[in-house]
Amino acid sequence: MKLDVLLGLQWGDEGKGKIVDVLAPKYDVIARFQGGPNAGHTLEFNKIKHVLHTIPSGVFREETVNIIGNGVVIDPVIFKQEIDELKELNVDLTKNLYISKRAHLILPSHRILDAASEKAKGKTKIGSTLKGIGPTYMDKTGRNGLRVGDIINPGFKEKYEFLTNKHKDLLKQYDFDYNLKEYEESWFKGIEIIKQFKLIESEHEVNTYLNEEKLVLAEGAQGTLLDIDFGSYPFVTSSNTICAGACTGLGVAPNKIGNVIGIFKAYCTRVGSGPFPTELENEEGETLRKQGHEFGATTGRPRRCGWLDLPALKYSVMLNGVTELIVTKADVLSGFDTLKICTHYKFNGKEIDYLPFEVNEPLEPVFKEFKGWKEDITEIDSYEKLPQEFKDYLLYIEKVVKVPIKIVSVGPNRAQTILR
Ligand code: GDP
Ligand code: IMO
Ligand code: MG
Repeated sequence: MKLDVLLGLQWGDEGKGKIVDVLAPKYDVIARFQGGPNAGHTLEFNKIKHVLHTIPSGVFREETVNIIGNGVVIDPVIFKQEIDELKELNVDLTKNLYISKRAHLILPSHRILDAASEKAKGKTKIGSTLKGIGPTYMDKTGRNGLRVGDIINPGFKEKYEFLTNKHKDLLKQYDFDYNLKEYEESWFKGIEIIKQFKLIESEHEVNTYLNEEKLVLAEGAQGTLLDIDFGSYPFVTSSNTICAGACTGLGVAPNKIGNVIGIFKAYCTRVGSGPFPTELENEEGETLRKQGHEFGATTGRPRRCGWLDLPALKYSVMLNGVTELIVTKADVLSGFDTLKICTHYKFNGKEIDYLPFEVNEPLEPVFKEFKGWKEDITEIDSYEKLPQEFKDYLLYIEKVVKVPIKIVSVGPNRAQTILR
């Protein structure tokens, strides 16, 4: 079998968690391939609302194996919290959650470095989630990092001290007070919890599943426009969030990639700093934030909101080789008289229909207007019953992007999902 990949096409928070949970019964294995606890993936079903950070979104499906791949970075403290919260919901993962030995560890001092670096940047800060993601990936590429496989080796404590001391030296550059002790204690408790899980080589494990004709879905974190290479650098995260990241983050060859499922919101949101050409800093933006409950699942920060951006969406579809689309939060658009979609940008006196390198310079969006609809669509259960105005909106997107929209999500709950 081939590996299907599901990922976000905007700036994250497209509803990946919800959709992975919906699709999970079709798959034997769900595997995270990059990012770490900067992610917040929300799942809602029955009366449960749950946010996952490091753990794949297949955990509420008993039959599903969940893998944390080599490309992920893990904070043992947050991992332990996630495990504890799941235990309270009677989800015991010791049997069906596997962790790659090659996954890197976020040390307490990585978090401090993240916070110190952001503070020093002042107004030019990235708006990081402050989970230590950047410093951990820096140590990975700098060949200094600690990996999950190291925790079972006798020299682990020494390696930890060595790297932490190096970070303490780095921290002398900053005017930043910190206290490592308290977090360190919980960190080592978290390490003991990680040891209770099956530690694997995800490259062997995932390829074996595929060779045995098992169905595996790779779950992306963040979104394409936050990719370290192709996002609005430097206002990005520190991993490859695009489809290629699933190859390096799990150990799967490019010719083994099957369907690439791209998720986008019916509008756009962004948390943290950086360019956002269609951002609405007005009442309409406020309405989107209110109706969409647009507050970060990890940090609680209000999300910036704006109209759908097609040049950006086309860029994401191209980078990922998206084969099918899923649109979420369609219900949030109910009630607007007029909806807008950005089709072009005005840049340096010209109209362009692509996202350029100069994304950090002012790109003035050019909009096409669509008639809105008034009815609440959260209870609608078939595509045919959706308002014609919404179908026209979707048909236009499909025509421009040239990829079919296969699923329409009309609410946060598992059940509020329309297959087309
Ligand atoms: P993720 O990071 O991509 O998994 O997305 P988040 O969980 O951070 O943010 C998506 C938010 O929208 C969560 O609160 C979801 O419960 C919610 N959500 C997902 N799909 C829909 C939808 O179709 N409609 C509405 N109203 N909310 C949705
Ligand atoms: P999910 O998986 C939305 C953003 C941060 C910041 C930038 C860098 O839930 O979609 P980092 O902590 O990686 O150093 O932050 O990236 N960011 C996200 N925004 N959803 C996420 O994940 C994000 N993960 C990071 O807000 O702008
Ligand atoms: Mg999120």
